[in-house]
Amino acid sequence: MTEKEMAAPEFMSEDAARRELKVLAAEIARHDRLYHQQDAPEITDAAYDALRQRNDALEARFPHLVLPDGPGTRVGAAPSSGFAKVTHAQPMLSLANAFSAEDVNEFTARIRRFLNLPEAEPLAIVAEPKIDGLSASLRYENGVFTVGATRGDGSVGEDITANLRTIPDIPETLPENAPDVFEVRGEVYMRRDDFFALNERQQAAGGKPFANPRNAAAGSLRQIDSKITASRPLRFFAYATGQTSAAIVQTHWDLLIRLKDWGFATNPLARCCNDTEAALALYAEIAASRATLPYDIDGIVYKVNRLDWQARLGMVSRAPRWAIAHKFAAERAQTILHRISIQVGRTGALTPVAELEPVTVGGVVVSRATLHNADEIARKDIRAGDTVVIQRAGDVIPQVVEVVQKKRPADSRPFDFPTQCPECGSAVAQEEGEVVRRCTGGLVCPAQSLEKLKHFVSRNAFDIEGLGSKHIEAFQADGLVRTPADIFRLRDRREAFAEREGWGEQSLSNLLAAIDARRTIPLERFIYALGVRQVGQANARLLALNYGTFDAFRAAMIEARNLDSEAMASLMGIDGIGPSVANDLVTFFAEDHNEAVLDDLQDILTIEPFVQSSADSPVAGKVIVFTGTLEKMTRGEAKARAESLGAKVSGSVSSKTDYVVAGPGAGSKAKKAAELEIPILSEDEWLDMVGGKAQ
Ligand code: IVH
Repeated sequence: MTEKEMAAPEFMSEDAARRELKVLAAEIARHDRLYHQQDAPEITDAAYDALRQRNDALEARFPHLVLPDGPGTRVGAAPSSGFAKVTHAQPMLSLANAFSAEDVNEFTARIRRFLNLPEAEPLAIVAEPKIDGLSASLRYENGVFTVGATRGDGSVGEDITANLRTIPDIPETLPENAPDVFEVRGEVYMRRDDFFALNERQQAAGGKPFANPRNAAAGSLRQIDSKITASRPLRFFAYATGQTSAAIVQTHWDLLIRLKDWGFATNPLARCCNDTEAALALYAEIAASRATLPYDIDGIVYKVNRLDWQARLGMVSRAPRWAIAHKFAAERAQTILHRISIQVGRTGALTPVAELEPVTVGGVVVSRATLHNADEIARKDIRAGDTVVIQRAGDVIPQVVEVVQKKRPADSRPFDFPTQCPECGSAVAQEEGEVVRRCTGGLVCPAQSLEKLKHFVSRNAFDIEGLGSKHIEAFQADGLVRTPADIFRLRDRREAFAEREGWGEQSLSNLLAAIDARRTIPLERFIYALGVRQVGQANARLLALNYGTFDAFRAAMIEARNLDSEAMASLMGIDGIGPSVANDLVTFFAEDHNEAVLDDLQDILTIEPFVQSSADSPVAGKVIVFTGTLEKMTRGEAKARAESLGAKVSGSVSSKTDYVVAGPGAGSKAKKAAELEIPILSEDEWLDMVGGKAQ
């Protein structure tokens, strides 16, 4: 059936859609098996994509017909593999991005501030290509390669040891002088010429070609049968270490040299640059020769050379402070914008979305792009019917860059931003000073409550296995799940599943067991799951750390309704929580329906008190205030160090403060501490206590 012959989902009957979804599910599952497990695809990539697109379109139109283990539930997820899980001894981090020289200058300036480097002190940076492949971690014990794993979610990856052993760039043993435990990290990739040759072989054998070298590398690495991996031309560049039982070098540059000595492939274009200027020059040079390189790269990674500085810089939100990826300019394409639709988010924000004629940009088919907000549409004067330039940079959401004015249809009209929520009809409001417009319907708005539910079960929140967004959509659509607590009551609604297609005894039992497994939840995850505006993972952790238990947190948020209360003062005292976040928190806890949901959830769930990972540190759980000038480290570094040891850093002194660390020039805070008889430490005393010297 060609696309033209297929009925548009809008005009289909439910029965017809149900039948077609069933056929599509079986068909897609068959092609997945052929492709992933038997390595013997029968259809082209494009034909496969068309099947999936059709499935997505039908699922979007009839969410309640989504099959519980249908293709839609597997989008983006790793194929349920036969690989064992491996917990990384040290998390595999990701990198923050820089898109301009200005961003890079800001990166090095930030590092200088953090480390308090005098202007004359050089800051050497290693610049190396960012390989467009897949990262892997290789563990050597007593010099022998023992376990190799994918990145996974950064904490837990998959055991692909047998497959990694087939890659010639990866040595099986290390020299005698290597530490007992030594983890090497790097990128598995495929060269472009090898990729083309592989695709030719695949096609000659009637198989499905890969879309790009990265996909080919990924598909080859995830083979259950390592003989297939061995037949694929995979390579590996080493660029970092994970856990190591002994330090072997003092700088990243020396690490690269050592890795090469030990038989790893390291990237020949890497350079140690004496300053940012030299690093940027190398960026320009490599960017210019990018197309002639034998493999794909998508930017340059800059890393602070000194490892002791790397250690002091530590990380923020799962990315090191000491490294950044400077991305190459985004790829662009022209296409037609058919219409502007409006998406309603979890917090009611209305986001305009460009619905595009599908177009390939940087190897990926793009059919939607974010338009951010009303101001952005007005500023760029984007209208339905326009031909637009879109761009996609790495994993960033595609964006509309500009309108091709000369291709604008004569009858086009500027876009009228809705004044009523397209989902529930409630009024749309715009707060002073905010560009975002929001639906005022709260939980009355089905779109908002749906997004809140999706957030509640998402990966960093409750993370219920087998309960994806599509299921939540379907369950909400027919009233099975209206509030988060309903999820935990599904066990009492077994009868409602009897009529639902696709829910056999086994799949339902699995789902209910997965839900039961989450009846106990760590405090920081629970706080994050609530979806309070501006409370992401970092703030949720900060709040969990500061309040310890949910009861204490909730009581404090209620007390903080009184702006003059001590509870409000200590909330605002948390370093990192400003008035705007505090206001969002208090507002959330003051809403009647939120209170009802919380009562309900607290009845059903066990919310575990916050556990401090560094519980044995002398400052774990202590409230510290820094004041005056610190001489051995910057305020930022002191705060980061204290927090990593489990302390809570506050900006103001109160009876809850445990220690005040005062440098020269300390004024009112030190005075208040003295009045309250709170121990005051000098910077050196503080450093003695946390067992670290600054430099
Ligand atoms: S360093 C803590 N160096 O980029 C350091 N990563 O966006 C973590 N990547 O997950 C990585 N080339 O898969 C580093 N020369 C390079 C890299 C590189 C590619 C990948 C890696 C990482 C991702 C982060």
